[in-house]
Amino acid sequence: MLYKFNIVLLLLVSLFLCSTNAKIIDGAKHSIRQFPKGFLFGTATASYQVEGAWDSDGKAENIWDYLTHNDPCRIKDCSNGDIANDSYNKYKRDVEMMRELGLDFYRFSLSWSRILPTSFPDKINEAGVQYYNNLIDELLKYNIEPIVTLYHWDLPQKLQELGGWTNPHIVDWYVDYARIIFENFGDRVKYWITMNEPREICYQGYGDTTMAPALNIKGIGEYLCAKNLLVAHAKVYRIYEEEFKPKYGGLIGITLSGSWTEPESEKYAEAADDVIQFEIGIYAHPIFSEAGDFPPIMKEKVAKKSATQGFYRSRLPEFTKEEIEMIRGSSDFFGLNHYSSNVAYKNESINFFDEPSSNDDLGVASYKSPDWSSSASSWLKSVPWGFYKLLKYITNNYNDPNIIITENGFSTYGGLEDDDRITYFRDYLDAMLDAIEDGCNVTAYTAWSLMDNFEWMQGYVERFGLYEVDYSSPDLTRTPRKSAFVYKNIISTRSLNHHYEPDTTVMSIDEGH
Ligand SMILES: *[C@@H]1O[C@H](CO)[C@@H](O)[C@H](O)[C@H]1NC(C)=O
Ligand SMILES: *[C@@H]1O[C@H](CO)[C@@H](O)[C@H](O)[C@H]1NC(C)=O
Ligand SMILES: *[C@@H]1O[C@H](CO)[C@@H](O)[C@H](O)[C@H]1NC(C)=O
Repeated sequence: MLYKFNIVLLLLVSLFLCSTNAKIIDGAKHSIRQFPKGFLFGTATASYQVEGAWDSDGKAENIWDYLTHNDPCRIKDCSNGDIANDSYNKYKRDVEMMRELGLDFYRFSLSWSRILPTSFPDKINEAGVQYYNNLIDELLKYNIEPIVTLYHWDLPQKLQELGGWTNPHIVDWYVDYARIIFENFGDRVKYWITMNEPREICYQGYGDTTMAPALNIKGIGEYLCAKNLLVAHAKVYRIYEEEFKPKYGGLIGITLSGSWTEPESEKYAEAADDVIQFEIGIYAHPIFSEAGDFPPIMKEKVAKKSATQGFYRSRLPEFTKEEIEMIRGSSDFFGLNHYSSNVAYKNESINFFDEPSSNDDLGVASYKSPDWSSSASSWLKSVPWGFYKLLKYITNNYNDPNIIITENGFSTYGGLEDDDRITYFRDYLDAMLDAIEDGCNVTAYTAWSLMDNFEWMQGYVERFGLYEVDYSSPDLTRTPRKSAFVYKNIISTRSLNHHYEPDTTVMSIDEGH
């Protein structure tokens, strides 16, 4: 009887889930949906991906300059960011594109080695400071709010040679850099992001070869990196809070990357949650949970494995009590970069070849369903309901934070008719509106990216831009794709209409921008 009752309950629950999914996928496609009052729209880029001018006016080498110059064909098309989109020289055209789109804000990052060529505060490169002053002033002139990331992956090469994020002294180096940034730009910049995507910085750069510095010191490097990065982030948050917030009144937070992980079947529910803990919880739990510290399941798993492998202590380093307290609550908002989802499963046949490694510590495998529609990037398939579920998860598990979507976007191989990108943006915005209706406090959305740019290991092969760039033209002419016209319409009407067909003949700047 009890058994039957459970089956009925299960059926009811799955019916409910199915109808929720159906609503997310198809529901509002036929009506026009309004965004909440005060909701903000922007686009984003990162310094190394667009600035170029890699050694101009006193800029020093960073880890991406070093990697692309010393091992060029580690990048898919053997390219680099030496010139990139030359935004160092063409920032006025960049701002003009933002005015065409009617953006509320622009998210960009600062190059540490452009501002501090020795990596340290003994020499400030005035030309570098001037460049960012020009960009910020140009934005403010047109009422576009700058959202500034202090660190988006381009560590000065000299600091890497000193151990980079595995050296605990990086906390001081990063704090010194941040103080100079706040002193120079804090009067005009009201939104700060300390770090972009620690997960990629540490897992890919230190535990793998898929991002600079490509150290591949698995099971050790990524965890040392995670700890130092969290302490550095929190210390900068506290300094801003104490010394600059009273003067300038800005907000400061962190941007985490996160995919949704769906269990292949109910029996893998715990495994799927473990994936989320290792990917997102590793940073979100110390900052946003009530308890602070690394997620308990992660501490347990790494400690257990470490012991059986003959280590004298867990490979996941511990925080002191003071550090746990300092990190807890050290973000004014939850910055989320989200692109796609995965399916998780676990069984005896899974073989993790690298031991020790964080993959082996986790012990769960995941994949992308072949049913999901593809982009130009192997890691990116369109799963709008995964976005909805992740937003609910963050709201429920991390204290209902104010969530700012700091990146979301879709890659193609180029071309102005980018209907797949348009479908992706519309479906993801629809899912986000569902989440807002169901109680998630999402207040801003950032499309990645303003224009095509250097897509890290994928070079210039995979394109994420609302604007396409003509490489063969001497001034790197930027032309709006169809998606730029659609995004412009979403912003100007503050609404989502799946059936809007833009006139793509003329892009112009509307009044007031
Ligand atoms: C950025 O520069 C690269 C190479 O110079 C080019 O392939 C890409 O299309 C450019 N994009 C923009 C928006 O300038
Ligand atoms: C392990 O899981 C995969 C994916 O679900 C499945 O294809 C495979 O048959 C499973 N192997 C065993 C031994 O259960
Ligand atoms: C959402 O977050 C903003 C910014 O922190 C806050 O002002 C607002 O009250 C929150 N809204 C809700 C419904 O909690």
